[in-house]
Amino acid sequence: MDSHGRVIRDLRISITDRCNFRCVYCMEPDVRFAAREALLTTAEIVRVARIAESLGVRKIRLTGGEPTLHPDLTGIIAGIRAATSVEIAMITNASLLTRRSLGEWKNTGLGRVTISIDSLREDRFARMTRSTSSPGDVLAGMEAAIAEGLTPCKLNAVLIRGFNDDEAADLAGLARTYGVEVRFIEYMPLDSGHTWDASKWVSAAETRSAVEARFPLVACGDDEASSTSRNFAFADGAPGRVGFIAPVSSPFCGACSRLRLTADGKVRPCLFSTTEWDLRAMLRDGASDERLEAFLIDATWTKQPGHGIASPEFRQPERPMSAIGG
Ligand code: 5AD
Ligand code: SF4
Repeated sequence: MDSHGRVIRDLRISITDRCNFRCVYCMEPDVRFAAREALLTTAEIVRVARIAESLGVRKIRLTGGEPTLHPDLTGIIAGIRAATSVEIAMITNASLLTRRSLGEWKNTGLGRVTISIDSLREDRFARMTRSTSSPGDVLAGMEAAIAEGLTPCKLNAVLIRGFNDDEAADLAGLARTYGVEVRFIEYMPLDSGHTWDASKWVSAAETRSAVEARFPLVACGDDEASSTSRNFAFADGAPGRVGFIAPVSSPFCGACSRLRLTADGKVRPCLFSTTEWDLRAMLRDGASDERLEAFLIDATWTKQPGHGIASPEFRQPERPMSAIGG
C-alpha cells in the first residue's frame, strides 16, 4: 500500500529495453540500449515476481521494449508461473508473433496479450513505427493470439496530430471486425527524443467524437475503479468495445494500482517518476527476501499522488517508455 491509501496489485516488468520498432512517440532511431549485463536475469525477474506477490501483487504485465525479443521469454513466463499464481499478461507490437510461440507461452502460463497498432495504412504505419512491418503483420499476429486463446485481446492505439489523427474511426472498426477491445491512449510526454508537444496531442474527448461520428457508443458502466480506461460498447450491438485512456486530460492517478520495474532493475513508483529505486544493486548484493520486501514497501510508499503533467513544474522523465515499462 502507498502513503495515499492506494493498494498496489499490478506490477509491470520491462524485460528488455530493446525493440525492433522505433515508434515516433517512444524511441528515436539512434536510441542506445542498455548493456546485456545491465538487464535483470530470468532468475532475478522471477524472484522479484515472487516477492511482489507475497506483498499483494495479483497481476504481472511483461512489457518492453518489445518483450518477444527477449531470448528467454518462455523461461520468464514459466518461472513466474512456477513461483506465483498471479495473472500474467504481455504487451507487444505483435510483429514477431507466431502461432507456435504464442501456443508455447500460453501453455507455459501467459494469460493474455495487448497489442499496439496505430495505423491501418502501410505508409503511415511505416512512418509511425519506422519499422519494416505492416499493419497486416500486426493483425495476423492478433488473429494468431486470439486463435491460441490469449484472450480477451486488447489493441492499443496512440493518435498523433498530423500522423494518424484521422484514423480513430477506422481503428475503432477493428473492434467490430475482430470482437476485441480497442483502446485509445492519449499521447504522453515519454518519448526518448523529447519531441512531445501539446500541438501534436489529441484528447480522448476529441477521439471519442471522431469515433462516434461513425459508430455511436454506449458506456459499459463497468469500469473498475483502478482501470485506466473508460469503456464503451457499440450502440448498434456490434461485437467489440472501445476504451479511452486519458492520462493527460483526466489523470486516473487517484486509483492507480501500479508499480513498475525497469529492464535494468529499477523500481519506478510512477511512469513519470524522476526518482528510481535500484533494486538490481540489492539483488546482486545478496540481499535477503526480507530486505527486498522492505525495499519494495518503501519504494511503493513514495508513490506521489499524481503525475502532474498539467503543472508548469512538470519535467519529462529522462528515460522513455521503452526503458520504463509501459
Ligand atoms: N504516449 C502514449 N502511449 C505510449 N506508448 C508508448 N509510448 C507512449 C507515449 N509517449 C504506448 C504504446 C503501447 C503501450 C505500452 O504504451 O503504444 O501500446
Ligand atoms: Fe517498440 Fe512499443 Fe516503443 Fe513502439 S512503442 S518503439 S513497439 S517499445
